[in-house]
Amino acid sequence: MPGTGIFELSRRNLLISSAATVAATTVTRGAAAQSGGEIMKHTSSVSLKVNGQVRDLDVDNRTSLLDALREHLHLTGTKKGCDHGQCGACTVLVGGRRINSCLSLAVMHDGDDVTTIEGLGQPGNLHPMQAAFVKFDGFQCGYCTPGQICSSVAVLEEIAANIPSHVTLDLNAQTSVSEGEIRERMSGNICRCGAYSNIVEAIVEVAGTKA
Ligand code: FES
Ligand code: FES
Repeated sequence: MPGTGIFELSRRNLLISSAATVAATTVTRGAAAQSGGEIMKHTSSVSLKVNGQVRDLDVDNRTSLLDALREHLHLTGTKKGCDHGQCGACTVLVGGRRINSCLSLAVMHDGDDVTTIEGLGQPGNLHPMQAAFVKFDGFQCGYCTPGQICSSVAVLEEIAANIPSHVTLDLNAQTSVSEGEIRERMSGNICRCGAYSNIVEAIVEVAGTKA
């Protein structure tokens, strides 16, 4: 049949070319998967300075700072409430600033200085804010208390540094330790027991002591 030879040749070339394409694609995909495997490392080494001590950890990249503290370092003073940044129970100090540790990955804090409630003071050697919470009954069940205390310490530092809040009226004057300022700045720390008034009294007491 005329033309069959040309057709057969073209068909043969097509098959060869298809096979070559499949082989090339397979090799490329394999290389991509391999390099992807190297990039997608699921664990990391992280070094935290927690309450003055260097702690080296190997953690899943998805581990929150809260879980690193509680589950890896067994510092269970820091509480997990909502795990969504809404209650403040997990508040710790990082470099002197308060953060919700449930919203922050441990791997983001390599080399950071972290202070938890255990590092603020201990039985017999309480931080002034811890002592004030005891004195003014700033808690009932105590679940929110570590976060409240860490936050309170940071609030007084913020006011001393003249960092304004939403209720600061005069941005040119030194911010005062008023009840309004304290309530606004502590509004991210929820207390189901409703110990708010006593918490404010405790903070005012410490601020007075500091002045
Ligand atoms: Fe982090 Fe509630 S546990 S804000
Ligand atoms: Fe119970 Fe605050 S003391 S939640």
